[in-house]
Amino acid sequence: MSKQIMLLPGDGIGQEIIGSAKMVLNTIAEKYNITFTFNQHSIGGAAYEEHGTPLADETVEACLQSDAILLGAVGGKKWDSLPPHLRPEQGLLKIRKALGLFANIRPIKGFAPLLHASPLKEEVIHGSDILIIRELTGGLYFGKPSERREDGNAAVDTLYYHRAEIERIVEKAFESAMIRSKHITSIDKANVLESSRMWREIVDEKSKAYPEVTVEHMLVDAAAMKLVTNPTSFDVMVTENLFGDILSDEASVLTGSIGMLPSASLSEGIGLFEPVHGSAPDIAGKGIANPLGMILSAALMLRYSFDLDEEATEIETAVSKTLEAGYHTADLDIKNGTKVGTAEMTELVVQQIKQ
Ligand code: NAD
Ligand code: IPM
Ligand code: MN
Repeated sequence: MSKQIMLLPGDGIGQEIIGSAKMVLNTIAEKYNITFTFNQHSIGGAAYEEHGTPLADETVEACLQSDAILLGAVGGKKWDSLPPHLRPEQGLLKIRKALGLFANIRPIKGFAPLLHASPLKEEVIHGSDILIIRELTGGLYFGKPSERREDGNAAVDTLYYHRAEIERIVEKAFESAMIRSKHITSIDKANVLESSRMWREIVDEKSKAYPEVTVEHMLVDAAAMKLVTNPTSFDVMVTENLFGDILSDEASVLTGSIGMLPSASLSEGIGLFEPVHGSAPDIAGKGIANPLGMILSAALMLRYSFDLDEEATEIETAVSKTLEAGYHTADLDIKNGTKVGTAEMTELVVQQIKQ
């Protein structure tokens, strides 16, 4: 097998952790006799510096020529005062839209050695295993108009969803539930928002085709609470763009650190894989970023884009064993553990795979 992978490191720690994913993939390639070739383009602030725009058209073109995309993270103080359309985050939103990456899959599963590093009580998170399915190309992020009015003294953003956008993400959730424990929690704000009421209708319609799947509707505020009081009650959570963004950062505490969380963004064609966290300007350049969310995103790429389930599991097991051996990065506070930096953590995972 031979695959072409596009690397989009982005900014801040994105630049530091992308190499970790590449090293791990090269180790897998050697062990399983696969050929990965890598291309690299800039996105976010780095692309603004190079091209004057957070995402150049030629980058989108090059992504479309690839078999899959790995992205680090975008953003940084340096670019925060740019006009909105030039901000690094626009690069991310633009690539999601341009490639039709409507389904963002964020698996939240605590690694046993990290359970006590979570701010939640161990007995509360024990056994939690959640799949957040976040709609990624609609809602408030993309609705028009989004603008200032009344001489800048008023602002409007638009929450728009077309039925077709909801149907495809809800279908993805049902399909995912069928290969898990057949339970979906659909999260909305149907007591206030019209778009949520339509969302609920569509979930109920779709559920008729999946009689084995139990469906629960939950308001987003209640879901935010239940995520930290009773996380084991969730299996597949499906929700719109902004709710999914917020709930997945919240859910990251279950894993001990946001640095651990991978994600897959899927379209009808190409997939993009990125950690859930941002560019972490507070620790960028120090060599201490946790590369595991990025490395686990590479595992998701193997599974979702290349159907290499065994190889994906190999990476996940190597991460697990490394943590079990007591190694952790600075974002995880583990008693009697060994604190390591980005490069050492990557090397430890590589060595586990080689064994
Ligand atoms: P962040 O996720 O970058 O950081 C939040 C906190 O978590 C920070 O204290 C950071 O040090 C820590 N953290 C995050 N990832 C870590 C890792 N791998 N290892 C160790 N610690 C880690 O969120 P923020 O500070 O709100 O945002 C910073 C910038 O990143 C902003 O410009 C924002 O727009 C951008 N951002 C980008 C993405 C993305 O590219 N997908 C996601 C979120 C935020
Ligand atoms: C994420 C990020 C992005 C989002 C930002 C940086 C645009 O927070 O990937 O979760 O809100 O989707
Ligand atoms: Mn986010």
